[in-house]
Order: sequence, then C-alpha cells, then structure tokens
Amino acid sequence: MAVSVRAAATPLDVGRIRADFPILSRKVHGKPVAYLDNAATSQKPRQVIDAMSRVFEDHNANIHRGVYEFSETTTAEFEGAREKVARFLNAASAREIVFVRNATEGVNLVAYSWGRDNIKAGDRIVSTVLEHHSNFVPWQQLAKDVGAEIVMIDIDDDGRLRRDQFTAALKGGRVKFVAITYTSNGLGVVLPAKELVAEAKAAGATVLVDAAQAVPHQKVDVRDLGADFLVFSGHKMLAPPGSGAVWAPEATFERMRPFLYGGDMIMKVSVEKTTWNELPWKFEAGTSSYVDAIGLGAAVDYLEAVGMDKIHEHELFLTGYVLPRLEDVPGVTIYGPKTLDDRVGVVSFNVEGVHPHDVAQIFDREGVCVRAGHHCNQLLMAKLDVPATTRASFYLYNTTEECDRLIGAIQAAKKVFGV
Ligand SMILES: Cc1ncc(COP(=O)(O)O)c(C=O)c1O
Repeated sequence: MAVSVRAAATPLDVGRIRADFPILSRKVHGKPVAYLDNAATSQKPRQVIDAMSRVFEDHNANIHRGVYEFSETTTAEFEGAREKVARFLNAASAREIVFVRNATEGVNLVAYSWGRDNIKAGDRIVSTVLEHHSNFVPWQQLAKDVGAEIVMIDIDDDGRLRRDQFTAALKGGRVKFVAITYTSNGLGVVLPAKELVAEAKAAGATVLVDAAQAVPHQKVDVRDLGADFLVFSGHKMLAPPGSGAVWAPEATFERMRPFLYGGDMIMKVSVEKTTWNELPWKFEAGTSSYVDAIGLGAAVDYLEAVGMDKIHEHELFLTGYVLPRLEDVPGVTIYGPKTLDDRVGVVSFNVEGVHPHDVAQIFDREGVCVRAGHHCNQLLMAKLDVPATTRASFYLYNTTEECDRLIGAIQAAKKVFGV
C-alpha cells in the first residue's frame, strides 16, 4: 500500500529550536547525533536545565514545610508548575493534578487507590493489545487479586483498534473499567480516544487514558476528552525523569483512599486515627520530586511557546517524509498505519534477515539513536508475530536530514549483513 503524505513543510523553525538543546550538538562515534528515540525519552532544552539548576543554586529547600524564604520560593515554584500543567491540560483546577514520578506510577496509583475499592469479583476490565505494559500489568494483577476478568481488544492489519470488538465487549456487560492508551508507543497509531471514552462511559464503565505518548505530541484537553483518569510522564515531553502526573476530577480524587502513606499527605495524626491532607497533597506522600516538577513546569512553558499544534504538524511532516522512503527500501516491513490521519511520529519497522538489535547497533555507528526491542509492548509483538521491531520516533527538534540518515543507516545495515 502506498503511503499518503500530508504536510508539505514544517511550521517550525527547527534550527532555532535545536540551538536550545545542548545535547544535540554532541557527536557519537565521530558523527553528529541523530536522536530518534523520543518515544523512549526526550532531550531537554536549556530552559528546563536552567530552571532546575536555578533551584539548586539559588533557593533549594524542602517544600510545604519551611517558613523561610528558600522553602517558600521552592514551594511557590512547585505549586506554580502544577498550575502550568493544569492549564496545559485544560483541567478545571490545579487540585486535579497529582504529581507522580511517571505514567507507570500514575496507573498504579489508580489501580491501588480506586481499583481495589471499586473492582470486584466478576467485573470486567477492558484493555487492548496496544497497551504499554504499564497500562496492562497493573490491571492484570488487580484482576487476579480480586477475581475480575480482563477482556482484550485486538487491532486490525493496519494497527487500528478493532472498534467492533470494543463495542461488543461493552455490550457484553459487566465492564467496570476500561484502560486504553491514547497513542500507541509501538505503532504510533492514535486511538479515537474521545469516542472510545464516550462509548465506555455510556456503558457505565470508568475509563483511564494513558496519554504518555499523547500529551508530549498534541494538544490534550482533559475536559473535552471526558475520561475519568489520565496519566502521563514528564520525561517524554522535555522534562526530567521523575516528573509526571495523574489527572482526575476533584470529586473522583476525593472519593479515593490515598495511594502511599507517610509525611505530607496527612492532616492530623494520632495513635487512634489519621486524617488526610487536602487535594492534591493527599496523594503526594513524602518529599516530592519538586525539582523535577519545576522542570516539568519549564517544559510546559517551552512547549506552549512553540505551540502544540505546530509540534504535531512537524512530526507528521517528518513521518510523511520518512514513510515513503522507508517503503522504497527492499526488505523493510513497516508496522502500523501508512496514512497520517491517525498517527504520530513513531515508525516501527523490521529489516528482513537482520535482527532489530543488530540494526540498532549499526545505526549507533552511524550516530543514529533508535530503539530496538519489544518497547514494553509484548502483547503487540505477539499480535505482529515478531519478537521485536526497530522504532524511530520524532520530536520537535528532528529534521529531514536525520530522516535521510535513518534511511542511510538501514542501507548500511543491509550491506553489513548482506541482505
Ligand atoms: C504509552 C506509554 N504508556 C506508559 C509508558 C510508561 O512510561 P514511564 O516509563 O515513564 O512510566 C510509556 C513509556 O514508554 C508509554 O509509551
């Protein structure tokens, strides 16, 4: 099938953007680095690095506890970052944003705090073969613990979710919970999340959307989406590892018991009884990764200044550039949709006769960083009937030259392995 190309040019001044990312001027094996592993983690702009360094150099102190200037400044920046994230997602208030270390912790928070009180024996949990292990294993384990049943939804040959199966699963009854990804990290396919959420909610289910690959790459509006929970990681959107959030409406969080217990999440402690802090701190036990959260706030500022719609368009431009060129290479199999209507800049492929790890190693010699493996998507790999794929994934700082180097690296790998 021939691929369709949409965006004819990038709306971004990529040269200017690249100048903000010190690591992009590094060389690897004597060649300029072409960093194409953004679905795994993103690089960080100077603005984020500086915002974090400023805390350490200027006013570092633990948050919420001190009544001296350092602590008050750090607390203000930490809570300011929460306000920024709330605005970025169009949340109704900052109380709807609970900071966590990553999307994985966010899913586990929901599975423990909401799931264990609400999902009972005989209930059904709907999930999909596109899920990252982070949005499948917690539900699988919960189902095992309480005697619930997991119902899996498949994909079609292009990697799109089988809507017929999804509808049938909901019609089958007893569906208490739906755990779906917004965007597949393995195939780059974007699910019709708003429609799926509406359908699931109409069937009486509670819905969690894993937006780890969506929030960094397109405008996500939690009020428009209408889900019950949404999670994402900061490190995939220019922020440091250790930052991320769970979004839920206040009323939902209010009804849930805490996830972790200890300092900062309490209101009053006595031997007989402990009461919980207000939202969102009820879910933020112990010293938060406050510098990482402040870095996340700076990343949100950066992304908003560039513009999420432009970033999305740029990634589609690169994907539209690379897909036909990849398709022209004999022996290359591309997984996922070949059109740009419902995908982001994640391109998974295999080179016939060469293991993905060998492909990635040859790429490394060319200075091209891609991911080879199952991408924490073993359910998807089983469906595709491959042990692994090679995955290139783009972000706002990638260029068509880097895409050309990707194609060149495939040619180099083919030559080395004589295929
Ligand atoms: C779709 C999706 N969900 C969840 C995760 C887990 O993210 P983290 O490892 O930051 O918790 C990832 C990471 O690759 C992902 O791509």
